[in-house]
Amino acid sequence: MHSDTTRQRLLDLLADGQFHSGEALGSALQVSRGAVWKHLQALGALGLDVHRVPGRGYRLARPLERLSEARIRQALAPAIDHRLHALLLFDSIDSTNAQLLARKDGPGAVVACLAEHQQAGRGRRGRNWVSPFGANLYFSLSWPFASLPPDFPALGLAVGVAARRALADIGVSHVQLKWPNDLYFNGAKLGGVLLEMRGEPPGACRVVVGIGINVAMPRDTDVGQAWTDLEQTTGGVPSRNALAAALITHLVEALEAFENDGFAPFRGEWQAADLLAGEPVDVTDGREQLQGTARGVAADGALELETPGGIRRIVAGDATLRRRA
Ligand code: BTN
Repeated sequence: MHSDTTRQRLLDLLADGQFHSGEALGSALQVSRGAVWKHLQALGALGLDVHRVPGRGYRLARPLERLSEARIRQALAPAIDHRLHALLLFDSIDSTNAQLLARKDGPGAVVACLAEHQQAGRGRRGRNWVSPFGANLYFSLSWPFASLPPDFPALGLAVGVAARRALADIGVSHVQLKWPNDLYFNGAKLGGVLLEMRGEPPGACRVVVGIGINVAMPRDTDVGQAWTDLEQTTGGVPSRNALAAALITHLVEALEAFENDGFAPFRGEWQAADLLAGEPVDVTDGREQLQGTARGVAADGALELETPGGIRRIVAGDATLRRRA
């Protein structure tokens, strides 16, 4: 049997989160116990949280709901489903953003892509996005713009609002937004947004919207900063298929609204969820380090920073919360 198929079936068997002996797995898959062990080693190396208990066998740290095109599509309203030219699912690829950027679909095609694991997940500012197998949501949507929309620099902020609406739909309220486009919960990072563009602005262009949301990270994962996940925030593990469908729905709606009206329909909601509002922050715009008090975002998405020299507008950069002395 082809080993990819064996791996798929092994994941299906383990998905219930119960113990399975190496022997039972081997006979169900018609491979040796050694072959089972090798597949589990390989999946473990991709970040799948597999436990082995002598005498009982193997089990996943928690049940795994596999990503499923049928489940995602079932949860979409017909108008949104029809808007999707393709919905691509992968077990392991370099990056869902890279995958969509490399495609040559016809003009106007909206394509979504999800993966169980990313070998080279991309974060903002050239950082790596840690992407353990089956743990989180790694999602991208390719969106064509006939011409550069108004307020284009604020697009990432509108996407943050759309992701927040999607999370609220699956029962996760009070998510905060950290300029420019991080999702936070209780002071720790829950997810992030990475936009990549191709084309010839101000003419036709295509934006790949990448969203990573932590769902149930293995507890000892080090991503270089304080993180949280939906398992910690909700006390359960929500359906990744339901979350994917909610993200697709809210993104399609938000991107259509942004195309017509820019950032205006999102600004109030963004400000209401602003993690940094009124807080002392360190900001870099890539050239300069600035300190001040965050005062929300302007109509074009720029961060307004109150400094001793007056209000400074930061169009692109990174902000960190400075703890009060
Ligand atoms: C950030 O640095 O906060 C942005 C992280 C964006 C991660 C997502 S995961 C799905 C998509 N594919 C990628 O390679 N990156 C984005």
